[in-house]
Amino acid sequence: RGASGPDQDLAARKVLISAGGTREPLDPVRFLGNRSSGRQGVALAEAALARGAEVTLVAAHLEVAVPDGVTVRTVSSTLDLQEAMRTAAAAADIVIMAAAVADYRPADVQADKIKKDIAGDRLSLELVRNPDVLAGLVDGRRPGQVIVGFAAETEPDDALRRELGRTKIQRKGCDLLVLNRVGWTQGFATERNEIEVLDRAGDIVMEASGTKLSVAHRILDSILDGVALDVA
Ligand code: CTP
Ligand code: CA
Repeated sequence: RGASGPDQDLAARKVLISAGGTREPLDPVRFLGNRSSGRQGVALAEAALARGAEVTLVAAHLEVAVPDGVTVRTVSSTLDLQEAMRTAAAAADIVIMAAAVADYRPADVQADKIKKDIAGDRLSLELVRNPDVLAGLVDGRRPGQVIVGFAAETEPDDALRRELGRTKIQRKGCDLLVLNRVGWTQGFATERNEIEVLDRAGDIVMEASGTKLSVAHRILDSILDGVALDVA
């Protein structure tokens, strides 16, 4: 895709993307985290930028560099990410929640390092549920805003995985859900990805596999198809 011309199909659109994995502090030196590298979210930012969008990336512990021209808001925990997304979503036309968001956080953050001589041979951590950032964005959605969620599912059976996706998109209320078939690719740090995009009815509107950048372009294609449908 070139820098100008007919491929600028996101020109003047404000695209907000979350990427990476949140970390939930346990004490001053420790956290609970996940294996997300942020590659697919950064690829989405790169693809949207190439298509003329004004891109804001809410970045949680990325393992990859962000292209010049993307506005970056760095966050750490899920609560940080929620705040940054809420603020930036107020101006966004398209919101994509590609980040791996921690479902739970430690109920208490210790002011000092947890010490073995105090904790003993067993240590239990009490966790509390984090807010659902995506569902909150859907609740606060501005008119015409398109909101896209991601779901990494390990279910190998096509029909069962699709059913999980259908249930999830209906629970979240977003417009599209990108089903990431984890276990098909060899892990989180890979350059390639394999995905399906579901609409609100749970129907598959797109399937793609390839580099994370090519998959990103296909995801943006499905978003723009959806936008065209809304206008029609
Ligand atoms: N998500 C979110 N806030 C959370 C958890 C998830 O915004 N507290 C978002 C993710 O960024 C993703 C989508 O919701 O876009 C689906 O995440 P996923 O973990 O697949 O779904 P959950 O609702 O957390 O359900 P599960 O119990 O399967 O993890
Ligand atoms: Ca989850």
